[in-house]
Formats: sequence, C-alpha cells, structure tokens
Amino acid sequence: MRPSLPFFFLLLILLTTATITTVTSSGTTKPTKTLPPASAPTSSPTPRTRTPTPTPTPVASSHPSPLDPKQIRALQSLNIPSKSACSLYKCDSSKPFSHLLSLRLSNCSDDISLSSTALKSLSTLQNLTFFNCPIAPIHFPNDLSLSLLSFSCIHSLHHLSGVFLSRFVNLTDLTVTNVPVNASGLYVIIGNMHKLRSVTISNANVTGYIPKHLHSNLTHVDFSGNQLKGKIPTSITLLENLQHLNLSSNGLNGEIPSSIGDLIALKNVSLASNSLSGSVPESMASLTDMVHLDLSSNQLNGTIPRFFSDLKKLRYLNLQNNNFHGVLPFNASILEKLQVFKVGGNTNLCYNHTVLSSKLKLGIAPCDKHGLPISPPPAKDNSSDDSENDSSDDDDSDDDSSQKEHHHGPNKVVLGLAIGLSSIVFLIVFVVLLSKWCG
Ligand SMILES: *[C@@H]1O[C@H](CO)[C@@H](O)[C@H](O)[C@H]1NC(C)=O
Ligand SMILES: *[C@@H]1O[C@H](CO)[C@@H](O)[C@H](O)[C@H]1NC(C)=O
Ligand SMILES: *[C@@H]1O[C@H](CO)[C@@H](O)[C@H](O)[C@H]1NC(C)=O
Ligand SMILES: *[C@@H]1O[C@H](CO)[C@@H](O)[C@H](O)[C@H]1NC(C)=O
Ligand SMILES: *[C@@H]1O[C@H](CO)[C@@H](O)[C@H](O)[C@H]1NC(C)=O
Ligand SMILES: *[C@@H]1O[C@H](CO)[C@@H](O)[C@H](O)[C@H]1NC(C)=O
Ligand SMILES: *[C@@H]1O[C@H](CO)[C@@H](O)[C@H](O)[C@H]1NC(C)=O
Ligand SMILES: *[C@@H]1O[C@H](CO)[C@@H](O)[C@H](O)[C@H]1NC(C)=O
Ligand SMILES: *[C@@H]1O[C@H](CO)[C@@H](O)[C@H](O)[C@H]1NC(C)=O
Ligand SMILES: *[C@@H]1O[C@H](CO)[C@@H](O)[C@H](O)[C@H]1NC(C)=O
Ligand SMILES: *[C@@H]1O[C@H](CO)[C@@H](O)[C@H](O)[C@H]1NC(C)=O
Ligand SMILES: *[C@@H]1O[C@H](CO)[C@@H](O)[C@H](O)[C@H]1NC(C)=O
Repeated sequence: MRPSLPFFFLLLILLTTATITTVTSSGTTKPTKTLPPASAPTSSPTPRTRTPTPTPTPVASSHPSPLDPKQIRALQSLNIPSKSACSLYKCDSSKPFSHLLSLRLSNCSDDISLSSTALKSLSTLQNLTFFNCPIAPIHFPNDLSLSLLSFSCIHSLHHLSGVFLSRFVNLTDLTVTNVPVNASGLYVIIGNMHKLRSVTISNANVTGYIPKHLHSNLTHVDFSGNQLKGKIPTSITLLENLQHLNLSSNGLNGEIPSSIGDLIALKNVSLASNSLSGSVPESMASLTDMVHLDLSSNQLNGTIPRFFSDLKKLRYLNLQNNNFHGVLPFNASILEKLQVFKVGGNTNLCYNHTVLSSKLKLGIAPCDKHGLPISPPPAKDNSSDDSENDSSDDDDSDDDSSQKEHHHGPNKVVLGLAIGLSSIVFLIVFVVLLSKWCG
C-alpha cells in the first residue's frame, strides 16, 4: 500500500496543474469575447429628463405702448424687473397701456410674497407658471381666476386645495406637480373645467377615484404618483383625442378596460406600479401610434400578446414585474427596434433560446420543449465584464451553434473553477500528508 502512495500523489499534482491551466485559459478567453460588441439593441435606457426651459420665450414684436403702471408695481413687488417684462413675457397691444398675458415665476427667493393687490392688477394674465417658488399661496381674485387659460405649479406654493384650483374654470392646461393638493377627489378639482385639454396632477397626494366623466377634448392626462384607488373607468376610453395617459404609481386595481383600443390616438401610456390584474386587452392591437407603453409592476397575467411586434412606432415596452406566463412571442427584430424592452420579474415567462440569444439578458429563463421555464431566471448580472451583447452579428436564428457555444461558455468557466479549487484543496491535503509520511 505505502509504495504506491507517492505515485498516486504525483498523478494528482499533474492533474491539478492541468486543470489550473484550463481555468486560466478560459478566464482569458472571456475578456476577448466581450471586446468586439459594437451596437446593443437593448441598450440601457437613457433617463428622460424633461428640463423645463428656464427662460421665458422672448416675444419678437416690439410693444407699442408702455406697460400698465399698476402691473409694473405688481412685478416690482414680486422682484421681477418690469422694464423688460414685455420682451420676456407676452403682452397685449392695448392702448394707452399694454397688459401682461403671461408670467412665469421661477426659483423665487423665499422673501417674496403674493399680495392680493398685486394679483388683482395682474388679472389680465392668461398663463401663469410657478416653478420652484416656495411662497405662500393666497386666494386669487375672481377676475384672475377666470382669465387664466393655463396654470402650472411645479414644486411651488407649499400646498394647494382642490377648491382653490377648481375656480380656474376657463383653463385649457393645468399642471400641478410635486405639490400636495388637499382634495377628496380629482372631480372636485377638474369637474368644472369644461375646456380642459391637458391635465397633469402628479405627485400631489390626491385620494379618491378617477372621475367617470372626463372632458372629451383631453389629449393629455397625467395623474401619476397619487393615492388613487378603484378601477380605471371604462368611460376613459371615450376620450378619443387622448395621446398621453399616465396613471402610474397609484393604488388602481381591476382590469385594463377591454375597450382601451378605442383610444386610437394614444402614444404614451403608463399604468405602471398599480395593482392591475387580468390580461393585456386584445384591442390594444389597434393602438398603432403607440410609442411608449409601461405596464410594469402590476399583477397582469396571461400570455404576452404577439401584436406588440406589429406596433411599428413602439420604442419603449416595459412589462416587467407582472405574472405573465408562457413563451415570449418575440424574435430579435422587435428587440432591435425597441430602445427599451423589459420583461424581467415574470417568473413563469420564458424565451425560446433558438429564437433569442441568452446574451440579450432578458431577465427571464429559457424555455424547455414544453414552453416552460427551465430554471429560475438568472439574477440580473451587473458585473462590468459582461458586455451588453454583440448579438447584432449572431442573433439571427440561422446560427444556432454559436448561440449554444455562448450558452455553455459560462458553465465551462464555473466547472473549471470548481475543479481548480478542489485540486488546490487536494494539494494542501497532500502536502500535509506528505509531511506526515516523510516525518
Ligand atoms: C432654476 O434653478 C434650476 C436649478 O435649481 C436651474 O437649472 C434653472 O436654470 C433655474 N431657472 C431660472 C429661470 O433661473
Ligand atoms: C398659454 O398657454 C397655452 C396653453 O399651454 C399656450 O398654447 C399659449 O401659447 C400660452 N401663451 C403664452 C402667451 O405663453
Ligand atoms: C371664463 O368663464 C366665465 C364663466 O365661466 C366667462 O364668463 C368668461 O367670459 C370666461 N373668460 C374668458 C377669458 O374666457
Ligand atoms: C398625504 O395624505 C395623507 C392622508 O391622506 C397624509 O397623511 C400625508 O401627510 C400626505 N402627504 C403629504 C406629503 O402631503
Ligand atoms: C383638507 O381639507 C379638509 C376639508 O376641506 C380640511 O378639514 C383639512 O384641514 C384640510 N387639510 C389640510 C392639511 O389643509
Ligand atoms: C373640442 O375642441 C374643438 C376644437 O378643437 C371644439 O370645436 C369643440 O367645441 C370642443 N368640444 C367641447 C365639448 O368643448
Ligand atoms: C409617468 O409619470 C412618471 C412620474 O410621474 C414618469 O416617471 C413617467 O415617465 C411618466 N410616463 C409617461 C409614459 O408619461
Ligand atoms: C388572471 O387573473 C384574473 C384576475 O385576477 C383571474 O381571474 C384569471 O384566472 C387569471 N388567469 C390566469 C391565466 O392566471
Ligand atoms: C413618449 O415616449 C417617448 C419614448 O419613450 C419619449 O421619448 C417621449 O419623451 C415621451 N413623451 C412624453 C410626452 O412623455
Ligand atoms: C420576426 O417576427 C416578425 C413578426 O412577428 C416577422 O415579420 C419577422 O419576419 C420575424 N423575423 C425573423 C428574423 O424571424
Ligand atoms: C422555439 O422555436 C423553434 C424554431 O422556431 C420551434 O421549432 C420550437 O417549437 C420553439 N420552441 C418553443 C418551446 O416554443
Ligand atoms: C446594477 O447595480 C447598481 C448598483 O449596485 C444598481 O443600482 C442597478 O440597479 C443594477 N442594475 C441592474 C441591471 O441590476
């Protein structure tokens, strides 16, 4: 027994060195593999930052008459240079004095305050914008409330009440963002605004339900980031001019109205981060102008409809964190067309690995031959050495072998590492034994 032992250990050493070289070689092939990629169809989304234009648009026409002295005093009380007011903001051309039609207060210092005298003399305003103006709100005189066509309040005026806003009955555009609004429901705010075309009441902590009766001329509805509850009313599908609908980050439940396909003007839709259930309505196939669709973080189920491939203008599709199941019905051509595509977080959803490359990192598992996920979805790999992909060359379904090779690539490395590590352990045991044996 004893004489054969050294020979056995010699064999072991040989084996160990052999496996270590495989590990290092497969380790070096990895970086070279990641170098070439040129373009990535599922490139990470560039965050859309809508920076509001800080400076008001100058009006080209020279103003024939000087600004109303009362308005000059009002502007001075608001720390706004009155000399250039009509070149900064729009004025009418009445005589002997002209009057302001629009005013934008941005980045106010907190020592200015609104006075009812100033507001009274500004009752010619049609457009009024507050942007980053932490000044205390006051009651608007009736004339000003009625003359306003557009009112924006973005992170300004501390807080507002629904009753305060509801008096602006002639508005076509209302924007209230990042301001708490004390209102028992949206209907209190917009119920009497019969000319409304665009309404944004977002991050305003509004409670209650989405009104059943919305004005049919609305093109833009954004109620995101509130505490709205209940179902999306079917009547919303009567808004035939609606282009933008954002109901994200509320507590909405129930199903997406099956008649949503009637809203053929829709371009940008987000119903994300609610508790919506049921499946994606088939009628959405007729929303051929759709550019941006976000249904993420709901409890939607059923299979993912194939018709998304046929929406030619679609650039953004987010279906992640739902309960969709079955085989993802897309091939690489739709993924190349989309700027953003997300389906992760659907545990029963899988992709056909002869159609889509695993390198697309969809965040879901490949399917077995029955169309069921093979394994739990791979953890979203963040390590920087994994390039997005180089699928533009090889993801067309004619090249199966290269995909298989890629698919087994990582497994080889893991195997090599495991063998290498266990060999090192053996080596240590061997050295210990050797010292004992010799000693
Ligand atoms: C207001 O402040 C923001 C940053 O806080 C800045 O980007 C913007 O240009 C400012 N706007 C004006 C009109 O001063
Ligand atoms: C007032 O607001 C409306 C709607 O947003 C817009 O169409 C119009 O150009 C604005 N007018 C001025 C003077 O800014
Ligand atoms: C605003 O609405 C009121 C009644 O609701 C009306 O009397 C007034 O003429 C309107 N003002 C403008 C500028 O349209
Ligand atoms: C939002 O409303 C709830 C009650 O509905 C209130 O407790 C909370 O303070 C409000 N949050 C803000 C930021 O106003
Ligand atoms: C909100 O409005 C209700 C009823 O109008 C009032 O009782 C309550 O004090 C208001 N809350 C705030 C924070 O203004
Ligand atoms: C909707 O807008 C059109 C003009 O675009 C206008 O003629 C019509 O009266 C509006 N409808 C309502 C109900 O205000
Ligand atoms: C919806 O609103 C949220 C936040 O209010 C915003 O992040 C998102 O981009 C909006 N989506 C669309 C489609 O307008
Ligand atoms: C999808 O969800 C709805 C409502 O929660 C449920 O009635 C239906 O059975 C579900 N369908 C599937 C295929 O899981
Ligand atoms: C609509 O969606 C597209 C694509 O994601 C985006 O570029 C655009 O800014 C969105 N428009 C609005 C008004 O949210
Ligand atoms: C991908 O699918 C679309 C529609 O589902 C089809 O028109 C197209 O030919 C397919 N492309 C490939 C490469 O299979
Ligand atoms: C995957 O795609 C291939 C080729 O299109 C097809 O033959 C196979 O049935 C698909 N597998 C599943 C599970 O759908
Ligand atoms: C990658 O990691 C960063 C920070 O660790 C995280 O914020 C980000 O969400 C991760 N991205 C993915 C795709 O997992």
